[in-house]
Formats: sequence, C-alpha cells, structure tokens
Amino acid sequence: MARIFITGSAAGLGQFTGQSLISKGHEVVLHARNEARGKEALNATPGAKAVLLADLCEPEATKRLAAEVNGMGPFDVVIHNAGVYQAPAAQLLAVNTLAPYILTSLIKMPRRLIYLSSGMHLGGHANSSDIKNNINRISYSDTKLHVLMLCKAVARKWPAVYANAVDPGWVPTKMGGAGAPDDLQKGFETQVWLADGKGKEANVSGKYFFHREEQSYHTGADDLQLQEHFLEVCREVTGISFPDR
Ligand SMILES: NC(=O)c1ccc[n+]([C@@H]2O[C@H](COP(=O)([O-])OP(=O)(O)OC[C@H]3O[C@@H](n4cnc5c(N)ncnc54)[C@H](OP(=O)(O)O)[C@@H]3O)[C@@H](O)[C@H]2O)c1
Repeated sequence: MARIFITGSAAGLGQFTGQSLISKGHEVVLHARNEARGKEALNATPGAKAVLLADLCEPEATKRLAAEVNGMGPFDVVIHNAGVYQAPAAQLLAVNTLAPYILTSLIKMPRRLIYLSSGMHLGGHANSSDIKNNINRISYSDTKLHVLMLCKAVARKWPAVYANAVDPGWVPTKMGGAGAPDDLQKGFETQVWLADGKGKEANVSGKYFFHREEQSYHTGADDLQLQEHFLEVCREVTGISFPDR
C-alpha cells in the first residue's frame, strides 16, 4: 500500500486516478481549491483518506499546501495533476508551472513523482525568460513544456526518485470538453500504473509517456542549460530554491 497525494483531484483525471488507486488498496489524499470543492471531492471519491485545500493560483497558498502535505506525510507518490487550459496567462503560469515547481521543491521527497504534461507541449517555448519578463505571453503549451522540463530536471538531479511525465491524450473531462476523441480510461491508466510501480517498465525516470508507451518530446526538455535557466527563473519568481537531494 502506497501513500499518494494528487493535486486537482476534485474532478477529471485527478479524481479518476484517485478512485482507481483507492480500488487497488492505496491510501489517497485528495486536493481541492476550496472547502466546497473539497466536500465534493470527498463525496465523489469514497475511501479517500483526506482532502487538503489550496487555490494554486496563489503561491502563498501553494506553499502552505506543501507544509500541510509534509504534516500528513511522508508520501510515497505525488501526482502533479491540477491544471487549467482556457485561463489568463498569469493563472496558467501559477497553476500549471509554478505550483508543481513549489510543491516539488517543498514537499519531502517521495519515491515517485508524476507530472501531467500534454501533447500540446510540443508547441511550447523552451526559453523560460517570459516567466519573469513577459508573463502575458505564456501559453498553455509553454506551461506543459515547463512541467516536462521540471520532470526532466528532477529525474537528473534526484536519482533516488522515479520522476515521469504523462500526456493523457485529449480526453472528455471539463478541460477536454465533451467531444474529446481519446479514451477517458486510458487518460488516467498511465498515472495509476506509474504510481502503482509494478513491473520494471514503471520503475524508470525522466520518461514521457502516452498510454504507457514512451513518446518523443520537445528536444528543449533535455537541454541542460534550458533546464537550469527554467529552475533559476522559478527560483527568482517564487523565492524558493530547487533543493539538491
Ligand atoms: N483533458 C485533456 O484532454 C487533457 C489533455 C492533455 C493534458 N491534460 C492535463 O491533465 C491534467 C488534468 O486535466 P483534466 O482534463 O482532468 O482537467 P479538469 O477536469 O479541468 O480538472 C482539473 C483539476 O485541476 C483543478 N484546478 C484547476 N485550477 C486550480 C486551482 N487554481 N487550484 C486548485 N485546483 C485547481 C480543478 O479543480 P476544479 O474542479 O475546482 O476546477 C480540477 O480538479 C491537467 O494538468 C491537464 O493540463 C488534460
């Protein structure tokens, strides 16, 4: 039985991932943006251990969340699932990029880290200067490349951790919309498989998966200078250094 924390688990892929992991006997702690969503999250996912609350648009709330996670920890697995798509650039940056950076840096190191990226990351810019200088130019694609770069940096710097990224496909959640063409079940199976950690294929690090298969990805994600620049810009913006572990 693993102890698993999932961000953005009041709905969509985060909720389905939590339900599936509970059915496999794992202990799951949920996360929602506020009290009302927290109650809905617990109602939708019977058997969840608890729900933690934080609006990830607010970096200070995200830092408090990390402290609460550590208070309940240690966790074996953290799934960075929360995300927004049609939102102002500052919100895209806060929820999709800075929250995973802050939580990764501040939460006591788990055994497994899973980051929700997207096939759309291929259209993102690997130079992170806009995070500091031109926030309004940040796109969803940029943020999904950021989170892949974060995953790659974690995998490189923290050899004791399995850190992997997932493209869930275009699936019919609130974000994906009712007409999304991909299989909803397949949209969370990879996260469950990586969290479960059974079999040598799931015990890898620095990979980018689509439906449990490794996929090619933006070459910028492996560029060490761009990775370091990304971490440095995140440090400047959040005031939190990426820890050596
Ligand atoms: N669906 C797709 O086709 C697709 C494709 C590629 C990648 N992805 C990625 O997969 C992940 C999950 O997406 P999804 O399709 O499940 O989306 P979703 O149904 O919209 O769920 C997103 C989750 O994130 C939470 N969230 C958003 N903003 C938040 C904030 N400021 N504070 C706290 N929680 C917040 C949402 O809470 P509320 O319910 O309260 O809003 C919800 O629980 C995302 O990272 C997304 O980028 C999805």
